[in-house]
Amino acid sequence: MKINLSANAITVLEKRYLSKKGTKVVETPQDMFRRVAKNIAQVEKDFGGDKKTQKIMEDRFYDLMTSLDFLPNSPTLMNAGKELQQLAACFVLPVEDSMDSIFETIKNAALIHKSGGGTGFSFSRLRPTNDRVLSTGGIASGPISFMKVFNSATEVVKQGGTRRGANMAILKVDHPDILEFITSKQNNEELTNFNISVGLTEEFMDAVMDGAEYPLVNPRDNKVVEKVSARKVFNMIVESAHKNGEPGIVFLDRINDENPTPNYGEIESTNPCGEQPLLPYEACNLGSINLSNMVENGQINFEKLKKTVEISIRFLDNTLQASNYPLKKIQDMVLTNRKVGLGVMGFADCLIKLEIPYNSDKAINTAEKIMEFIQHHSKIYSQELAEQRGSFAGFDESVYPQKGIYMMRNATTTTIAPTGSISIIANASSGVEPLFAVCYKRNVLDNESLVEVHPLFEQIAKSRGFYSEELMEKIAQQGSVKGLKEVPEDIQKLFVTAHEIEPRRHIEIQSAFQRHTDNAVSKTVNFKAEATKEDIAEVFLESYKLKCKGVTVYRDGSRDAQVLTVGDND
Ligand code: CDP
Repeated sequence: MKINLSANAITVLEKRYLSKKGTKVVETPQDMFRRVAKNIAQVEKDFGGDKKTQKIMEDRFYDLMTSLDFLPNSPTLMNAGKELQQLAACFVLPVEDSMDSIFETIKNAALIHKSGGGTGFSFSRLRPTNDRVLSTGGIASGPISFMKVFNSATEVVKQGGTRRGANMAILKVDHPDILEFITSKQNNEELTNFNISVGLTEEFMDAVMDGAEYPLVNPRDNKVVEKVSARKVFNMIVESAHKNGEPGIVFLDRINDENPTPNYGEIESTNPCGEQPLLPYEACNLGSINLSNMVENGQINFEKLKKTVEISIRFLDNTLQASNYPLKKIQDMVLTNRKVGLGVMGFADCLIKLEIPYNSDKAINTAEKIMEFIQHHSKIYSQELAEQRGSFAGFDESVYPQKGIYMMRNATTTTIAPTGSISIIANASSGVEPLFAVCYKRNVLDNESLVEVHPLFEQIAKSRGFYSEELMEKIAQQGSVKGLKEVPEDIQKLFVTAHEIEPRRHIEIQSAFQRHTDNAVSKTVNFKAEATKEDIAEVFLESYKLKCKGVTVYRDGSRDAQVLTVGDND
């Protein structure tokens, strides 16, 4: 079967995914999908599947991917069926308050990066700067200086020889070094291999609402060091995020309230892009359904979506089994809880096909309807798999039996990833984000950029007779079609871009997806350059009220190198 790959998809595949001998690409995209499908289908034999079943599943997985209805996270595409065989994108490692633990974790993070995974850490257990070090009588360096060591180690290790490692650092808001943490990325040259997020607690948010103080606590002895104004700290986070998008925030208590396996510990961190909260030593395999492909004749084909959910969950459960893990401890944790994260991409494209503007109430209802459906069927299928393969090992101690559920193959089934690379391969809009621009340049590979006209826009412009090269050029300069007299008004509304969408609407969409997602939702609220600190504060508070698990903001032009740019200023 011919795969409908865009020129950009082929560029990205050749650069990073297809097998090479030296610098020569020795695999076609078909070969790659066949390699992955075969490898993931082999797992069927562990559950009594004979050769015939394996072949049937291989073909189904192959069709699933080559139709671009679903793609697994990048490490699976890159590594399945190869020597490395490390298939997971997300890991969290513990950082305890000792030199041994810190440097052990730096080593383990390097091993994970080398295998194509990203790592998240909580630095909240480290004693603060200038605290006592008993063994030497010296003073402690504090979390931020250790983050710099992690950052340097990451700098020298390339992920699977293809991309630089990505890290998440989380510090709880009651850590004495929190102010230093909040501003630790204000210089764009610092901690370049980290995303940072402040871990907010309910206690802190209550204090913000009440205009009260809250305690900073030394994690070494749990003693209160001082009390500070919650609003002052909140405003610092806002100011810093306004400057360059860092830090983000995560609501840790909320994440733990929904931790399906609390007996295995507290969740203190997420993966690098924030969508996957994990226990220390857990990893997670992600995969995303291309919603654009679920629309037929202006309607969502729910029967197709259901079938796609089922086969995708089976695929992801198989990957847990097929994967090699960089550490035995990680393997044990993964096979205990068997977390997978099925999500979506192409949501904005799907809305366009349904003729629903992203910034409308109908879009929120559609988000909710789709994700509720995916969540529901992913759970039913995970139960079906449990009947054939058994529940995840930690099931008895999980929250499921208390809810009257008797079997479940996976502790979690849903996560909404950013789909940064796989959405390029699928030629779909990324994750649940709105269109960034109707025509734009995309900086994909270090210093290379690709020019793109949105395929649905091109199609509509041609069929409605307003397509011209000059118009596309003009749109590429300004990104949006708003106010262009050449573009009919209904099309202007339908092709609304991120910066034209009220920040509140971004959060409402995120929240609609979050209501039906086990893990978290990757979403950046994009602001225009002229957005104020108050605008940022409002979005943070809104994300709290609407029960998101965290949020990231970005104000246009506030960082030098952006992934997506409009115009030719890059
Ligand atoms: O599209 P792709 O599968 O490459 O990844 P994504 O959906 O953009 O990101 C999913 C997760 O992959 C991130 O949250 C990270 O855990 C990991 N990742 C990474 O380790 N390094 C990157 N350069 C990008 C993503």
